[in-house]
Amino acid sequence: MKEKIAGIAILLVSCLLWSCQPSRTFSDREIILIPQVQKMTLGSSSFRFGENTEIVIRTADQQTIAENFSGLFGKSAGWKPKVVKDVAEGSNQVRFITTESLGEEGYSLDVTTRGIELKAAKPAGFFYAIQTLRQLLPAEIESSQKQEKTEWLVPVISISDSPSFKWRGYMLDVSRHFFPKEEVIQMIDFLAIHKINTLHLHLLDDQGWRIEIKKYPRLTSVGAWRVNREDKPWNSRPKQTADEKATYGGFYSQSDIKEIVSYAADRYINVVPEIEMPAHVTAALAAYPQYSCSGGPFTVLPGGVWPVTDIYCAGNDSTFLFLQDVLSEVIDLFPSKYIHIGGDEATKTEWGKCPKCKMRIKTEGLKNAGELQSYFIKRIEKFINSKGRVLLGWDEILEGGLPPKATVMSWRGTQGGIDAAKQGHDVVMTPGQPCYFDHYQGAKEEEPLAIGGFNPLDKVYDFNPVPKELDAESAKHILGAQANLWTEYVPNIKHAQYMTFPRIAAIAEALWSPKEVRNYDDFYRRIQSFTKRYDLMGIKYAKSAFKAGGKTPEPVKK
Ligand code: ACM
Ligand code: ZN
Repeated sequence: MKEKIAGIAILLVSCLLWSCQPSRTFSDREIILIPQVQKMTLGSSSFRFGENTEIVIRTADQQTIAENFSGLFGKSAGWKPKVVKDVAEGSNQVRFITTESLGEEGYSLDVTTRGIELKAAKPAGFFYAIQTLRQLLPAEIESSQKQEKTEWLVPVISISDSPSFKWRGYMLDVSRHFFPKEEVIQMIDFLAIHKINTLHLHLLDDQGWRIEIKKYPRLTSVGAWRVNREDKPWNSRPKQTADEKATYGGFYSQSDIKEIVSYAADRYINVVPEIEMPAHVTAALAAYPQYSCSGGPFTVLPGGVWPVTDIYCAGNDSTFLFLQDVLSEVIDLFPSKYIHIGGDEATKTEWGKCPKCKMRIKTEGLKNAGELQSYFIKRIEKFINSKGRVLLGWDEILEGGLPPKATVMSWRGTQGGIDAAKQGHDVVMTPGQPCYFDHYQGAKEEEPLAIGGFNPLDKVYDFNPVPKELDAESAKHILGAQANLWTEYVPNIKHAQYMTFPRIAAIAEALWSPKEVRNYDDFYRRIQSFTKRYDLMGIKYAKSAFKAGGKTPEPVKK
């Protein structure tokens, strides 16, 4: 009897202690989630994270997600919730519960005063549940300094959520300007909180080759370096002279690439490599001129070039063997289902002059140089398919006939994507308007120099990747969309962040959230609070839209 009374007393005291923990009821307007969730019901009171909160997981994938989340507390709270495996249900726990019905990326999140339940079918779903939970916590969770005064409360709430589109992408051009591994890894962190799931790396162009290929060391010893003309406008930079050394650039070693890919995978971001061909390859030809029509010589370009005429020779079989070797190493490094082969903006004047290319046109029964590009891409597709991967290319790959299994990235507007989808091919939409983040986002007079164009926050937010020209069947081929940051006018990572944020939040919501919960005025209100997280994470972002009250500012003067 005595023991029973003691037991009841302990229970009462712990209940009392528990209920004495600070708690409060949140209002709707305090729930700042980006992208907005599909469904939520806000209750009263809150759950408090404390030193004794446990995160209960079952699998290795869940463990990584939980450890990364717990690590945030380590910095900002000075303690970490303990990640534990398979312990019995109790109070003050965050529990991961596998629930088969929730799809590839869906999840539910239930917060009560006693604990939190996260449900998902797949690790990606748990990762997104955690990103939502992170956003329900005070913004101070993002701080790398200890926050003495913060109460780590999350509202009692019930959320169910899943994305509208499965391709939610961001492309970073690391050729026109090179961003070291650490900066790419940091960008992955910043993208992940927005539930972006694809990072497309534009790994080479006329101005630099950025990935180590063991069989062709000159691609990086020569191709990764150019003369430094950063003090001159992009389109008026003289080429390298005979007595100059190329010292400006950089590249990722294969071990850097493995690190980037693995870091991204832990954040449910697939890294898609882009190996441009047949054009935008001056950096490759500077290293191996024998794969051009003319034989060179070439130097890596320090600035803009137009039109792009120095391209791979399509009549030379050794060009294809070289590309297959390069792609083999790339495919070994990137588990991505999709391998991007570029395909854009090839001016084929050299092919018209080259005896080998002319011979190829004849022997293959092709009509012209346009069909020779299609031959080129189809031959590469066969190789990529033989490795179990899917070829992805810019919409020029439609010209002369699409390779049979290719996926198209539509950038010259949406027409290429519409045509491809109608032909039964998958499509990623990334039309220059509004998906090119190298374009201005505010009044030109007030913005850093950009390439041109005008893609303000509200226009990005309003983007619908499914054109109205498509019927329901063809619309299924639209995998999603992607923001592209070309970096001719973006010389460093802070500038890259400025061009990316907050517009990435707008496209993330356009791609994740269903129409019924999307509302630009509400997003505009939320993003202004959300930038507190950007500040604490050290993200440089543009305030252009805020100056203009969230609406499209003055048109850019020509
Ligand atoms: C591109 O912007 N040339 C794909
Ligand atoms: Zn040729």
